[in-house]
Amino acid sequence: MKINHDRLSDLLQRAYSAEKAAAFAYQGHAGSLRSPEKKQAVRQIEEDEWNHRREVLKIMQVYNIPISKYYEFRFHVIGKIISYSCYVIGWFMPYFFAGKLESGNVCEYFRMIHYFHELDIRIHDEILYEMGIKEKEHEVYFLEQIRQAKWLPFFEKVFHWGATYSANDIDLDHKYPVDQSDRYCKKN
Ligand SMILES: [Fe+2]
Ligand SMILES: [Fe+2]
Repeated sequence: MKINHDRLSDLLQRAYSAEKAAAFAYQGHAGSLRSPEKKQAVRQIEEDEWNHRREVLKIMQVYNIPISKYYEFRFHVIGKIISYSCYVIGWFMPYFFAGKLESGNVCEYFRMIHYFHELDIRIHDEILYEMGIKEKEHEVYFLEQIRQAKWLPFFEKVFHWGATYSANDIDLDHKYPVDQSDRYCKKN
């Protein structure tokens, strides 16, 4: 089955490749950490991203959406650069930029739900919801790691993400159920 929704197809292709960039970045991030627990936590997040990539691909295959060679190349390079940089930029920035990135990724999955609904397709709601919530959990985890850091207020001001700014409107303590998940990310 083919779908006629360019923005949705593009978003799926981007997400598929960006998940690889995230997974690569977390390999470097985990490698740069000393604490075994923190290393393990970031490895688990890397594993989540590989899972997301597999799930996004499954959806793409339903609608014969090809993998974008351009995005695959671009995000491969980006992921590797971030991965190596984690060893040289100190402990704070990898957490900060991971959190900021995750914050933006959350709504990509809810936006896919919106787009699918425009086509009257609801069969992917659950998995997309699950992935969006997982990205939110990642965001919260990274924020918790730097909440007390002295650099956070400065970075928060400059990059508009941190203890008071988020790029999404998900509150893990008060979640909407799956069938109301199109209420999320309306503004984004
Ligand atoms: Fe992900
Ligand atoms: Fe994530």
